[in-house]
Amino acid sequence: MVAENAGLSPTIELRNLHRFFGTLRAVDNVSFSAYPGQVMGFIGPNGAGKTTAMRILATLDLPIAGDALICGESVINEPDRVRRVLGFMPDSFGRYPNMNILEYLDFFARAYGFRGAVRRDAIERVLAFAELEPLLDKQIDTLSKGMSQRLCLGRTLIHDPEVLILDEPAAGLDPRARVELRELIRLLATEMSKTVLISSHILTELGEICDSVSIIEAGKILASGTIEELQQGTGSSVEVDVESAPVTEIEVTMLGDAGGLETWLVQQAYVDQVTVAGQRLTITFSGDDDARHGLLKAIVLADFRVVSFETKTQSLEDTFMRITRGELQ
Ligand SMILES: Nc1ncnc2c1ncn2[C@@H]1O[C@H](COP(=O)(O)OP(=O)(O)O)[C@@H](O)[C@H]1O
Ligand SMILES: [Mg+2]
Repeated sequence: MVAENAGLSPTIELRNLHRFFGTLRAVDNVSFSAYPGQVMGFIGPNGAGKTTAMRILATLDLPIAGDALICGESVINEPDRVRRVLGFMPDSFGRYPNMNILEYLDFFARAYGFRGAVRRDAIERVLAFAELEPLLDKQIDTLSKGMSQRLCLGRTLIHDPEVLILDEPAAGLDPRARVELRELIRLLATEMSKTVLISSHILTELGEICDSVSIIEAGKILASGTIEELQQGTGSSVEVDVESAPVTEIEVTMLGDAGGLETWLVQQAYVDQVTVAGQRLTITFSGDDDARHGLLKAIVLADFRVVSFETKTQSLEDTFMRITRGELQ
């Protein structure tokens, strides 16, 4: 296993990633990193925010705050560069009627702009890797689930990306197909030094394949570490977050009713909680000075009639009490 201490730069790095849908916090301040040769599991129940985070990594959606870097390139600022080094396998396999395996791979190789010998080589490499050569002529809408997943993984590799984002690739596979998929993913990491992020809602499904895992629930990372660390309770968890994200309270006084601002605030990044008493609001805020400045600017731009905006730092103990009273207990 290649880990942080090998002195490599992360090839996947999520930095305080946020994506809300109205008041629904699908991805809520998520940070973690993965390195070349590493298979990282992204585990959480249905609705935890895995697909939303992965779609942002794949440049198919944008965060409302924070950023993610793939091989050092921002998904927000350099999406084209990211797409060149990243392969994304979505959780559903597009069914294309009247197309065989060779035509399917050829279509994707053309989409990447490959021509002539380069395209032939790319397709041959993928066919050999996924062991699909004997099935070249097979219609893809007649493939078994296991074969479809192998082909879909193959398609994801056509431009030989450094980083692979695989959304629930083992879902619905029979045990044999699952073992085969696991072998292919291990090969990608160990023989080819790819970085693999793989999601699942079943911890045991990923236990044997991942070097480390991040556990997500309701948009928040609950714990990260190797499986052994998590079992022994030594992985990084909420206590670490307490130190890295200083929580402050911001008191805002409004001219007139505070209700409109409250509704607006609960949809903003880093705003964990809002309480209202008359014209005064108290915001529990987990961002840094830049984020706080951003919030004040946005409040003013949105034309709320604010007369004061005052930050009060909470003690570490208050912060710890707040977090441990929450849903993690
Ligand atoms: N485009 C969208 N609009 C509104 N809500 C969404 C959208 N996409 C996802 N969600 C919601 O965000 C939450 C996280 O979803 P998702 O990332 O698909 O979870 P997971 O992949 O972990 O099952 C869910 O509550 C889901 O309903
Ligand atoms: Mg999903």
